[in-house]
Amino acid sequence: MRVGVFGGGQLGRMMALAGYPFNLRFSFYDALPDCPSAPLGDLYGDESGSPESLDAFLASADVFTYEFENISTAWVERIARHKPVYPGVRSLAVSQNRLNEKALFDRLSIPAAPWRRIDSLEALQQAVAELGMPLVIKTVTGGYDGKGQFVIRSTDDIARAWTDLGAACPLLAEAFVRFQRELSIVAVRGQDGEIRCYPPAWNVHHQGILSHSVVPAPDISEASARQADAYIRAILEDLQHVGVMTLEMFDTGSGLVANETAPRVHNSGHWSIEGAICSQFENHIRAVAGLPLGSTDPLRPSAMINIIGRHPETAAILAIPETHLHLYGKTERPGRKLGHITVTAPTHIQLMDRIKVIAAVLPNRMAL
Ligand SMILES: Nc1ncnc2c1ncn2[C@@H]1O[C@H](COP(=O)(O)OP(=O)(O)O)[C@@H](O)[C@H]1O
Ligand SMILES: [Mg+2]
Repeated sequence: MRVGVFGGGQLGRMMALAGYPFNLRFSFYDALPDCPSAPLGDLYGDESGSPESLDAFLASADVFTYEFENISTAWVERIARHKPVYPGVRSLAVSQNRLNEKALFDRLSIPAAPWRRIDSLEALQQAVAELGMPLVIKTVTGGYDGKGQFVIRSTDDIARAWTDLGAACPLLAEAFVRFQRELSIVAVRGQDGEIRCYPPAWNVHHQGILSHSVVPAPDISEASARQADAYIRAILEDLQHVGVMTLEMFDTGSGLVANETAPRVHNSGHWSIEGAICSQFENHIRAVAGLPLGSTDPLRPSAMINIIGRHPETAAILAIPETHLHLYGKTERPGRKLGHITVTAPTHIQLMDRIKVIAAVLPNRMAL
């Protein structure tokens, strides 16, 4: 069986690395000839996204998936007319549009920050009056790593937010959530409807980019873990999603508030390659290929640390006990995710110590 992946970044690369042991082979659709997935399969695509390049990609595989949600739903519909695509177009339409995502949370009674759709400066002023400040303004599509956002903290900021983002209307305005920490849950649903969830991760961001994740989230209450599980199950079932899905959440200390979804394997699930019985990448590929799912149980406490902007010394990282290095084959650039490190330990206390040892070796500063 051949799997076609929209996007040729590190997520596609790690999907292929997980699928090769079952003798699956891969093709990727990406405009960049030196993308991280290129060494692992056949590459299709051109800068203009021509119909011919899409047809060639369509002919190259038996089943399709994506590693990146900012692709046109029309493309996925076109593929779906000929061959299976997982996750389906409904999952994509929700996750790539923050307004659809908020409507889904409301419909499923999943707590999320109160929100308004913004189509004009007047609507923005009204949202500030109704939801208060700080008010978080987000572009509806295309945002990532905190890009496409503006936090209104005073009435003077309203005009600035409008100058910055007004051209991208409609926008989403949402109340600021006073959270204690950020969590995520990664889960997988198979073609037969079976769902398996990884334990929630505690995610620490630095300058808008995920710095590291610790799994299971330390000291998470039974109630919060159950909530996270129930929310992602409700979403997976409602969308009849097939494959991995991720839900980012705020832990307020008195319950979880949903933030956003990703219809795909997620940076906060990379720990699972070494830290779980079956990784998120393997489970995603199993689901897409119609195979039985593997266990999402963690083997021991694990952390994922992103390598951002500059590469560390390989030997210095690998000299740290129970550390694994994943490099994506990218060139250095400020703010760019170049790779990640997984570290495991018998206990969370030892794990936190190992994270500090790794932080001291990384050229980029980590938010500890
Ligand atoms: N409503 C909010 N209240 C407080 N912080 C927020 C809110 N929305 C987003 N943030 C902060 O901004 C970060 C990025 O926002 P997010 O919606 O996850 O977009 P992205 O697609 O860039 O990850 C979040 O991880 C969180 O730290
Ligand atoms: Mg996010």
